[in-house]
Amino acid sequence: MNIFIPLKNKKTIFKSKEILDHRFIPETLPHRDEKLKSIAKYWVEALSKITPQDITIYGKTGTGKTAVTLFAKQQLEEVAKENDLNIRIEYIRCTDFNTEYQILARLCQQLGKPVPYRGWTKAEVVNTFRNLFNSNMLGEDLILIVILDEIDVILKNDGDSILYTLTRTDNVSITSISNYVDFKRFIKPKVKSSLRDREIVFPPYNAQQLIDILEERSRLAFNEGAIGPGVISLCSALAAKEEGDARYALDLLKTSGEIADENESDIILESYVNEAKDRIEHNKIIDIIMTLPLQQQKVLEAITILTQKNEEITSGLLYEVYQKLAKNDKVSYRRLFDFINELEMLGLISANTISRGRGKGRTNIITLQCDTELIEQALMV
Ligand SMILES: Nc1ncnc2c1ncn2[C@@H]1O[C@H](COP(=O)(O)OP(=O)(O)O)[C@@H](O)[C@H]1O
Ligand SMILES: [Mg+2]
Repeated sequence: MNIFIPLKNKKTIFKSKEILDHRFIPETLPHRDEKLKSIAKYWVEALSKITPQDITIYGKTGTGKTAVTLFAKQQLEEVAKENDLNIRIEYIRCTDFNTEYQILARLCQQLGKPVPYRGWTKAEVVNTFRNLFNSNMLGEDLILIVILDEIDVILKNDGDSILYTLTRTDNVSITSISNYVDFKRFIKPKVKSSLRDREIVFPPYNAQQLIDILEERSRLAFNEGAIGPGVISLCSALAAKEEGDARYALDLLKTSGEIADENESDIILESYVNEAKDRIEHNKIIDIIMTLPLQQQKVLEAITILTQKNEEITSGLLYEVYQKLAKNDKVSYRRLFDFINELEMLGLISANTISRGRGKGRTNIITLQCDTELIEQALMV
């Protein structure tokens, strides 16, 4: 028999797994009516052929910023079409397009003026973009709303020149979305003053709100009766602790469902949720470690080796072992301290300064904060 047949016909408690995917935009967004209305209040201007004010949306991960904005986009596109208005809303995720050139090229392409993704000068791309806003033959002006999601990525990577260009193009309105409240420190005062934006803050969801969100989604995603007692409350409570992150709540529910399938169970049990939590945590740490720069990985590997030997890890000892691993490519002793700080910020290690007693000075002692096996798995050592 073909190896795919039994896999495809395997029993599952999912009715439609895509419903739990991050990219799925639900038809209702519980507890976000007010935020949707805030966005609509500014964007509605476009229906009277006025370029809407710029908007800035802040909020922690998983508070529904992307979902709500995309929902508002669909809604505005719908009325614009019905009324035959020349309004375009373009969604750009700055992790995918992270330079001014790439974003403008993408916008030109979406608006029907293809620009090569490399090779032109920036001025050529800027001009092509600006020319899109010359009235067309019917004198119908285009109004463009650009959604820059994860805007902090482009600001860090490429500076604020994209904002400079967009704010200086007539008929363009910017909606920026950021996970960080302080992202504007990356914008120069000159550009900041031309970004006359209205701010909308998305607060974290509380446990009860997450329950409402999960109940709605799970009705569509799972077979009837597939969710055991206490499962949704547990997912919601765990996610409420993680700063009200709806994405995490959905991930927990989805992974719990997968564990139920693995166990050939018709029902998700609370114990599966706890298992799902460990699995997600585990994968998150592996991801972090795998994407560290190579020299950082070497430092982490050195810490792991010393931990396995039960050594007290001082920075001096760490540098010795690190040098052996890094061979010719090593960084300086001073740079090692930056690495230690960064690894500490990521929660992989902790570093405590202790006093060795009078006259003996102070020493940094490093302790690993995750399983050595996990690190070995991630670094494949
Ligand atoms: N109010 C809500 N109702 C239903 N699903 C929601 C709601 N808020 C967020 N979600 C879902 O949670 C996940 C994370 O939301 P997202 O908009 O990506 O968060 P953010 O952009 O703030 O990080 C997505 O799958 C989204 O569909
Ligand atoms: Mg988002």
